[in-house]
Amino acid sequence: MTNKLQVLTSLVLISLAIGCGNKKPQKSNNPTFDIDKQLAYCEQQATKTLTLIPNDNKSIPRNIAPESQEWRFINYKDWTSGFWPGTLWYLYENTNSAKWKEQADSFSRYLTPLSVTPALDHDLGFQVFNSFGNGYRLTGNPEYKEIILKTADTLATLFNPKVGTILSWPREVPNMEWPQHNTIMDNMINLELLFWASKNGGDKSLYDIAVSHADVTMKNHFRPDYTSYHVVVYDRETGEKIKGVTHQGYADDSMWARGQGWAIYGYTMVYRETGDAKYLDQAQKTAKVYLEHLPNDLIPYWDFNAPNIPNEPRDASAAALVSSALLELSTFTKDSILAKNYADKAEKMLVELSDNYQSKDKNSAFLLHSTGHKPNGSEIDYSINYADYYYVEALLRLKKLKAGNSLTKPLSTDIKPKD
Ligand code: GLY
Repeated sequence: MTNKLQVLTSLVLISLAIGCGNKKPQKSNNPTFDIDKQLAYCEQQATKTLTLIPNDNKSIPRNIAPESQEWRFINYKDWTSGFWPGTLWYLYENTNSAKWKEQADSFSRYLTPLSVTPALDHDLGFQVFNSFGNGYRLTGNPEYKEIILKTADTLATLFNPKVGTILSWPREVPNMEWPQHNTIMDNMINLELLFWASKNGGDKSLYDIAVSHADVTMKNHFRPDYTSYHVVVYDRETGEKIKGVTHQGYADDSMWARGQGWAIYGYTMVYRETGDAKYLDQAQKTAKVYLEHLPNDLIPYWDFNAPNIPNEPRDASAAALVSSALLELSTFTKDSILAKNYADKAEKMLVELSDNYQSKDKNSAFLLHSTGHKPNGSEIDYSINYADYYYVEALLRLKKLKAGNSLTKPLSTDIKPKD
């Protein structure tokens, strides 16, 4: 090709590119991604799971080991007990089908004792808000409301005003200097229960507890680069920080993938509930460091500092919950380029999970390859119910965003909560 021809070709290509730029912006980063197909897949898998659950009014599916098809079941006390009923509520939201509503109601009710027994730990939000919280959002059933309000009061009993946070584990856990006060990053998610209760008939102090917890965590759980400690131990009398450590991550100063995910999700939610810009800023900073260190396929290894990357297990659950968080974060972010980046990355995560992480006929969960507690040697490369919950939540959020709907309102206008 002569020089002149090269220049001419370049000019044509540049003007074509400018021409394309003038066209209506493409709505989707992945125009071929079929959200409804993935949701239909979730429905099929959940239908299979229903046939595998013992009919004993207590068993809730938690996880499946690699190469197995058998769910391990837990009861309402387990920290993951709210994810299966929550998943069923999302399937109801997507389909408006009586079948899913009945199943969601039935499994949610297994968790009722949590509202009338002393707090075993901070996980009450994961448990009761994912189950009854979603149920109330979609039905307005006053029985659910009562259960949520009582549970919020139970969670508040773990608040230590000298520290300003909730005691995550009210028991001896190795390396946590019991009976000193411990708070884990995961605890951020449970603040949503308190915010909701304070605005729906509960005591107004629940709001202050949630804000205090978010503030004290913001001060003590983050390193200068906005990666987070999994756990902070505080002196329970003076409120002084004793140390930042890990429990489920690789090292005290590493970025445990799901923990950082809880931070992104948690501060995005606290911004939604308070409207205070400092939480939005925190969510964006914690998201930035997470996104900058992801592998190309956007699914993190279980810990960003794990020593043998790329020969380390992935954590699909972190990818699913971060995808969901980023979709919400995109709606609050005023910088349109940044907002689009969040939404595009979130969608790419969902495409990757859908293309390469679905269980399909290997088992009846939605996703493979999550890591629960690597240092403990438990749930490594498993299917886990919370990965499935956040996957279906993120798919629904993406569907709502593409339809121009609010993320917090029911997807179908046919679903009309009575309250
Ligand atoms: N909340 C416990 C975990 O994320 O594994």
